[in-house]
Amino acid sequence: MKRTTILAVLMAMAAMTAQAQTYLDPNAPLEERVKDALSRMTTHEKIQLLHAQSKFTSAGVPRLGIRQLNMDDGPHGVREELEWNTWSPAKWTNDYIVAFPSLTCLAATWNRDMSTAYGNAVSEEFAFRGKDIMLGPGVNIQRTPLNGRAFEYMGEDPYLAGEIVVPYIKAAQANGIACCLKHFVLNDQETNRFGVNVNVSDRAMREIYLRPFQKAVEKAHVYTIMGSYNMWKGVHCCHNDELLNGILKKEWNWDGALISDWGGTTNTMEAALGGLDIEMGTYTDGKTKESEFGYENYYLANPFEKLIEEGTVPMSVLDEKASRVLRTIFRTAMNPKKVIGSQCSENHYDVCREIGEEGIVLLKNDKNILPLDASKYKKILVVGENATRSLTQGGGSSELKTLRDISPLEALQTMYGDKIDHAQGYYSGRAIYDRVDRIDPEKQAFLKAEALEKAKEADLIIFIGGLNKNTRQDCENGDRESYNLSYGQNELISELAKIQKNIVVVTFGGNPYAMPWLNQVAALTHCWYLGSESGTSLVNVLSGKVCPSGKLPVTFATRYEDYPYVKFGKEAYPGVDNQVYYKEGIFVGYRHFVTNNVKPLFPFGFGLSYTTFAYNKPISTVANHNIIIQTTVTNTGKVAGKEIVQVYATAPKGSVERPTKELKGFAKTKLLQPGESETLRITIPKEELSYYDETKHGWTLTEGTYTLNVGANVNDIKGKVNVEVK
Ligand code: GLC
Repeated sequence: MKRTTILAVLMAMAAMTAQAQTYLDPNAPLEERVKDALSRMTTHEKIQLLHAQSKFTSAGVPRLGIRQLNMDDGPHGVREELEWNTWSPAKWTNDYIVAFPSLTCLAATWNRDMSTAYGNAVSEEFAFRGKDIMLGPGVNIQRTPLNGRAFEYMGEDPYLAGEIVVPYIKAAQANGIACCLKHFVLNDQETNRFGVNVNVSDRAMREIYLRPFQKAVEKAHVYTIMGSYNMWKGVHCCHNDELLNGILKKEWNWDGALISDWGGTTNTMEAALGGLDIEMGTYTDGKTKESEFGYENYYLANPFEKLIEEGTVPMSVLDEKASRVLRTIFRTAMNPKKVIGSQCSENHYDVCREIGEEGIVLLKNDKNILPLDASKYKKILVVGENATRSLTQGGGSSELKTLRDISPLEALQTMYGDKIDHAQGYYSGRAIYDRVDRIDPEKQAFLKAEALEKAKEADLIIFIGGLNKNTRQDCENGDRESYNLSYGQNELISELAKIQKNIVVVTFGGNPYAMPWLNQVAALTHCWYLGSESGTSLVNVLSGKVCPSGKLPVTFATRYEDYPYVKFGKEAYPGVDNQVYYKEGIFVGYRHFVTNNVKPLFPFGFGLSYTTFAYNKPISTVANHNIIIQTTVTNTGKVAGKEIVQVYATAPKGSVERPTKELKGFAKTKLLQPGESETLRITIPKEELSYYDETKHGWTLTEGTYTLNVGANVNDIKGKVNVEVK
């Protein structure tokens, strides 16, 4: 055979082999893998990529060796395995995991490195459990303290939420696990979450609600995003053309896959043309109700395939969706760099504990009763159901099945031995989803009387209460019914304080709440939810082993009525006739309290320490597009501690109303020993100072003099610098 023929045969074979390899070649460029895979798929195979094949998986292409996508909740750890097609636990025995602290706790650390550690550790657990997509994190904005899912989010400020969510996503996706940022967008209440249409100004939409999602897309390149149940401009966000095709995919140039919330898809044509890529959980209620339809009846299944076959919807629409799903598969399931991960490893517990320790916020500490000096006390009485109740269970889809769940009481007993006495004080029953246990008043009265009796013998009381993961507390699919703590806690705290003035209150919960007893207690720490190492993190802070450094990512108002939307009535929350109007506009949280001089109980960014810090005069330099604020912080106290320095911008008077202060930068010091200083350099890109101009439909940077306020919280400014922006 002639040399040329042999060569031709060899080249043809090589071409065939090369052709056969591209989508399977881990070293081939991503877009070539996508294109090659797509070119080999039938229409039906493309369609199957676009919807669930089980509760938490969507199909791959078995014939071509393209893997399915394994998804699972949630933002705080890997949910226990559920049955293939029901919401019931599969009762596996190898799916116990680490419950990490709630994301509001992570936000309260104001520590970007902690966020990296969190994303890395939690994604290692997802990888080890064989998942490709983790259904989290969430960055919906806390406009109301009644939102049942606030504990899953990162507070009231879009800058803080954006800055903290980016490292988490980068670290998780570096491990080959896709984040699924949720809930896109305006899912800021649980009341009527499937049916409410959110009316919000374009400016508030851009500056407040879209902002953290935009940062995650532009800075962290988040691989998938979950559409929310609610509507915007009368169209469901899971297939909202203006939101998903207009803003997310075109304006932000996002190349990922948009996944519906479970049961968030409502019709085929909108799903086809409105930017949805993977339809999950249809015909269910995202929690318990099962679907009597099979997966082939999903809107993007047979009904959509029919539209393609008929030519009603062009093949290009299907190819675009399928390409986004393939891209996700090659970034995760078929990513050669995807880690094996680990589960319940000690370093994960260490990360969990450290985030908890740094997220706990010390709100009051009279006469430095904290850190506890146990030698001063003979009998320490621990009162409250949250001293023993597991707070990793419940709460909805973010619930977790843990191997380790150290309670505060257990940790206190380990630290202080038999000095510790305990009285439950109150009980809340179990109220999972809509089944609410009836509270027996007699039992409640007995528990209270028992605690008050024991209080007489104690020379220190630690009350441990707050919210819990029951429905109508911090739980999905329902909002709190009151700004007050439940189960008679306010009265109990007040009566305990009358018996023993040495009382330390410790609360758990994702939201602010009223504190009628605040002046009666000596100290108060708020802990959000701390996960598997809850008790250890708490006791390390109470004992002084760790100096508290957390600061509030939300404003704690004295009265519910002080929140900006309340004066506008039900239309502003929770809505009337399926319409809710964000009448406060951009004035959410501290933007309202500061601009309108409403004194909060505890301001945004507030948190005490066991030590004190001095700030030297800040200086600013402008380099290219960045303003750099430099300030030196010195530990002027007696114990080592970390300080969070915040920078709030005051814009020059311009054509539109602007909040008096807006968070535009922050940094956390390393652990400073007494007398030690650290110089912090906080970089503020100039465009961060822009506002959204509704007339221009674009961001605008006003020229003029900006005052950059450097402080320990939004109301405690230590120094200012004026910067000219041209
Ligand atoms: C739920 C939640 C969503 C969760 C999904 C799967 O309804 O809204 O956050 O990831 O369904 O459980």
